[in-house]
Amino acid sequence: MSEPGSELPEFPTLARDPEALQRQLLLFTNDITEIYKRERSRAEELEAALSELKTAYLETIRSLAFVVEAKDAYTGQHLERCRVYGMALMQALGIADDHPDAEYGFLLHDAGKVGIPERILSKPGPLTAAEWRVMRTHPLIGYQMVSGIPFLKGAAEIVRYHHEMFDGSGYPEGLRAEEIPLPARVFSIVDAFDAMTTDRPYRAALPLSYAAEEIDRMGGTQFDPDVAKVFAPLCERLVPITTPA
Ligand SMILES: [Fe+2]
Repeated sequence: MSEPGSELPEFPTLARDPEALQRQLLLFTNDITEIYKRERSRAEELEAALSELKTAYLETIRSLAFVVEAKDAYTGQHLERCRVYGMALMQALGIADDHPDAEYGFLLHDAGKVGIPERILSKPGPLTAAEWRVMRTHPLIGYQMVSGIPFLKGAAEIVRYHHEMFDGSGYPEGLRAEEIPLPARVFSIVDAFDAMTTDRPYRAALPLSYAAEEIDRMGGTQFDPDVAKVFAPLCERLVPITTPA
């Protein structure tokens, strides 16, 4: 009668030879380390390619937005500040990763103005009721321009709803509260903040503390009160980011 275990195939005999087992384990470890290094380098390459692609997207969108609004010297910096403030507020709310294309929407919000006649856009005096009706079509024109582009689906929502107000008094659809997509509620706050804190032809920039109070005060009417509360403490940290030296 054979010894117990002697009929086992070759591989399990390693279990009885600690040195052979150690050599085999070393080979496995080396193989796994090699595979891990290769995969990691591939992941890094993919990450770099993705980052380059993202930069290319952003630059393309920025160019498009600037071309649309090139007439207004103020607008270029306004768009960039809205993007920076908007993304900071999205981060503070913890929703930036859920809306990766929001920054494109912040840049493109007024792209639809390309379809508004120059005589209305640049009219020195107040607009008539009929002219306002035309002006108020720009969010939908912008939406039609960008909503067919797959990577701008989320951005298109911001373009469409950037003039809606929390209490339902905005346009084009008079949406209220949570009916308005959250990134569009974020945008209306940073847009108003930038308008208040920069010089305009008819008045100097308002103090930051005043702008922050105003936004908080308009929480529940023009703005989402919860988003406005998160924005107020960010204000002083945000302004130096894009203010030219
Ligand atoms: Fe607009």
